[in-house]
Amino acid sequence: MAIGTAVADRFELIIVPRSSGGASFAQDVAEGLRSRPKRLPSKYFYDNVGSALFDAITQLPEYYLTRAETEILREWGWQMVRLLDGPVDFLELGSGSAIKTRLLIEEALRVQGRLRYSPIDISTEAIRASSMALVETYPGLSVRAYAGDYFDVLGSRIVRSERKMLAMVMGSNIGNYEPDEAHQLLTLLHGALRKGDGLLVGADLKKDRAVLELAYNDPAGVTAAFDRNILARINRDLDADFDPRKFAHVVHYDARRGSVDSFLKALGRSVVHVRSIGLRTSFRSGERIHTESSYKYSDDELEALGRAVGFRPASRWHDDAQLFGVYLFVRQ
Ligand code: AVI
Repeated sequence: MAIGTAVADRFELIIVPRSSGGASFAQDVAEGLRSRPKRLPSKYFYDNVGSALFDAITQLPEYYLTRAETEILREWGWQMVRLLDGPVDFLELGSGSAIKTRLLIEEALRVQGRLRYSPIDISTEAIRASSMALVETYPGLSVRAYAGDYFDVLGSRIVRSERKMLAMVMGSNIGNYEPDEAHQLLTLLHGALRKGDGLLVGADLKKDRAVLELAYNDPAGVTAAFDRNILARINRDLDADFDPRKFAHVVHYDARRGSVDSFLKALGRSVVHVRSIGLRTSFRSGERIHTESSYKYSDDELEALGRAVGFRPASRWHDDAQLFGVYLFVRQ
């Protein structure tokens, strides 16, 4: 790639279909609403409305995670991209439209002049928009984007780079996986990387219950709207008749598991039809749907997770208030 080639020449989009074993939204909703207790996978929060609400959450005073991670990247991003002895290409789980990815891209471009950035994101539209914005801003950048489920993209073994890779799982995204799923995801990443490649993980640190519960239950009700939007999405996409106003957003930090768990609690009895999947389900007053777990880590736990799948902890950084950690691993 020559620096400054046309924007269109520096952007490539690869669409990775669901693997045959992967469940669809309809299948996951059917299974989740038939289980007891009821549950819905949090990955379905992020339709257009949900993504906009999540962006609003990152601006809330109570949701310290994004600010703390940004502080770390502003202060230490220069070190993160230099420690691997590059040049490197970036591979990010999630499509970084945000300021945080730009900080690392700018640091890498300062060191090596050009960079390939490969985001993986389930939303084709989100990944196209953020990738185009990035190539327009940075003449030294090329983007090879993968639209698909992380597990499908990494499992398909099409992610390759001629250069050393620096993979990223930022923004406490690792926290939305159950520990066994996080282990599985990092194992797949290990398979996609080569010896000597890097992995950056941003994780939220364990702390006071009050701070954690407020971060996930802000007084302005933005997180409640984000949570309830999953019901509105089921209404929109699967022809259902949930009344989201009849569900309260409830949050509880389970200190034993280290997870902030979010629920939608039925405020009365109701019967809901999800017509496109032929499902009829009833709710008792007070019955809860588990919608999200956000796991919190200690330094030792996060580094043990990496070590368990063949990554050597190489460096770690915290923000000044010790709320959040960014961890660099080297693939063994
Ligand atoms: C995207 N993810 C890391 C967020 C979190 O903190 O678990 C999602 C979120 N849920 C409620 N607020 C933010």
